[in-house]
Amino acid sequence: MDKLLEIKNLSVGLLTAYGFVHGVRDVSLDVFEGETVGIVGESGCGKTLTAKSVLGLHNEERTELGGEIIFTKKNGEKADILKLGRRELRKLRGSEISMVLQDPPLSLSPIISVGKQLEDVIIANRGVSRKEAESVAIGLLNDVGIDRPEMRLKSLPGELSGGQLQRICIAAAISSNPRLLIADEPTTALDSVTQAQILGLLKSLSEQRKMAVLIVTHNFSVVKRLCDRVYVMYAGFVAESGSVAEVIKNPLHCYTRDLLRSIPDGTKKRLEAVSGTLPDVYSEIKGCAYAPRCKNACASCFEKTEPRTEGGRTSLCLAGRCGA
Ligand SMILES: Nc1ncnc2c1ncn2[C@@H]1O[C@H](COP(=O)(O)OP(=O)(O)O)[C@@H](O)[C@H]1O
Ligand SMILES: [Mg+2]
Repeated sequence: MDKLLEIKNLSVGLLTAYGFVHGVRDVSLDVFEGETVGIVGESGCGKTLTAKSVLGLHNEERTELGGEIIFTKKNGEKADILKLGRRELRKLRGSEISMVLQDPPLSLSPIISVGKQLEDVIIANRGVSRKEAESVAIGLLNDVGIDRPEMRLKSLPGELSGGQLQRICIAAAISSNPRLLIADEPTTALDSVTQAQILGLLKSLSEQRKMAVLIVTHNFSVVKRLCDRVYVMYAGFVAESGSVAEVIKNPLHCYTRDLLRSIPDGTKKRLEAVSGTLPDVYSEIKGCAYAPRCKNACASCFEKTEPRTEGGRTSLCLAGRCGA
């Protein structure tokens, strides 16, 4: 499989009224053609900022970006997304990469029918007439499992359920036939039955369209269900990465281990909460970001981390290697 996306040492800093926010500190991540990759970690660890960087969606004046985001285009050319101009970025977004944003109702205008909004996206991406866009929209609604599409297209967002709105947003995102779909917390606001349906939809779409999917979630169960590989993020770093099965079987980073202990898997008698909070986003971090919350941390963990890469897996954890 060829590499579609390669993020190398990405950092995202935000200039705010309160100071410089270290949103993403050091993220390296690959997505190969057709695979489904998860980014998982607790709220505030930099998942959304990482995902938005791939589409160049940051406010240019208030964001400091570092590193590289290399995307391999359909024609085989490689582009560093962080170096593209606005026009080139828009072209890439309309043809090769799409994103389903974190809060679907917020990405739709409440006063315009979903059909008109979806058609506008199709017209912008494909340059077709309104009439053609309508028939494409009907086809897409069928693809995402919405019944009676002609009728639904006339609805306002407020007349549809959360699950239907999420399907509409997915339809808009796949309307450009992207090779990479990024879905940010695609099921967080939904009930458990609808969550399962949306995850099933994403899986079948990725298979049918041979589309790579990057799923951003705070929920390890979503990763377990959908992803081939996973990147566990903590405090703006990739704490650990590897195939989902291996990471679950043998987590290399103490944060992953604690995260896995806190989610139900049908076998645990008791779930264990991870106490403490993420480190301050305004400060530099020395040593392992997780050390202050980690039961296994030794003195060296507060001083340094040592990246380990082995057999397709990476980890930043020193535990078990620091002689403690
Ligand atoms: N526009 C912004 N202004 C200030 N801080 C922000 C902004 N966007 C994100 N952050 C901060 O950056 C960190 C990472 O944010 P985000 O990527 O949204 O986290 P996640 O998606 O993992 O919950 C958080 O601490 C968040 O508060
Ligand atoms: Mg987020």
